[in-house]
Amino acid sequence: MGQQIDVNHLNIYYGSFLAVEDVNLHIAANKVTAFIGPSGCGKSTVLRTLDRMHEITPGAHCTGEVLLEGQNLYAPDVDPVAVRRDVGMVFQRPNPFPTMSIRQNVLAGVTLNNRKISKSDADDLVEWALRGANLWNEVKDRLDNPGVGLSGGQQQRLCIARAVAVHPQVLLMDEPCSALDPISTLAVEDLIEELKQDYTIVIVTHNMQQAARVADYTAFFNLKAVGQPGHLEYFADTSTMFNNPQNAEAERYVSGRFG
Ligand SMILES: Nc1ncnc2c1ncn2[C@@H]1O[C@H](COP(=O)(O)OP(=O)(O)OP(=O)(O)O)[C@@H](O)[C@H]1O
Ligand SMILES: [Mg+2]
Repeated sequence: MGQQIDVNHLNIYYGSFLAVEDVNLHIAANKVTAFIGPSGCGKSTVLRTLDRMHEITPGAHCTGEVLLEGQNLYAPDVDPVAVRRDVGMVFQRPNPFPTMSIRQNVLAGVTLNNRKISKSDADDLVEWALRGANLWNEVKDRLDNPGVGLSGGQQQRLCIARAVAVHPQVLLMDEPCSALDPISTLAVEDLIEELKQDYTIVIVTHNMQQAARVADYTAFFNLKAVGQPGHLEYFADTSTMFNNPQNAEAERYVSGRFG
């Protein structure tokens, strides 16, 4: 089952630059939450604090709390590597490992985490993850072919299979369809709809139609001015965000009259 996330008074820095200010946000379990907003408002930055990837950038840090099912991911005794196992990330451009087969790509996260598994358990896991990513039927006869030989949409579903193979609780996706054609985009959107039965999903998107199609809740991030920190301007269920937002800036943004 997916887990819920509560973000409390989160301030996110790159060195001394405050990039995002005082975010307070509830991300519901087994739902899709979309992050929208103008470029530079901090959507990717906030996303990366949810699996402790932000701090990989030298000098980057944050203050405040991110609670995964009540447990603060930034408590001193928490291992960031374990966090990244529980909270998986899918990137903007499909990034299968270039030297690896389809099968090896699915198992990559499991192998990296030093889990030893038998050949038959590995076979079962590969099939389970590829079925979960809606890709099994398209690749089952060529699992030993290179992952990079797939189409863009198939590669993105392969990356989703790689992410789910480690059994995360939450899946974070940063513009996962922006490099895909419309047919592949719809395949990935269908998949997101199915995945929320098992996972909590957060997706960053610039595509308003996509947010309206896939998200249960939508968070609108905004900037007061260039050089100012981004902030969470308005949060609502997706239908309210797009049909009847109670925030003038959000209304302008979703109706395309922004900037
Ligand atoms: N590695 C970094 N070092 C320093 N500043 C950064 C870094 N990454 C992002 N920033 C700054 O943090 C702020 C938020 O950037 P972020 O990439 O999170 O925005 P975004 O909402 O994801 O934008 P986009 O829609 O263009 O992807 C911006 O001011 C950006 O310049
Ligand atoms: Mg971004």
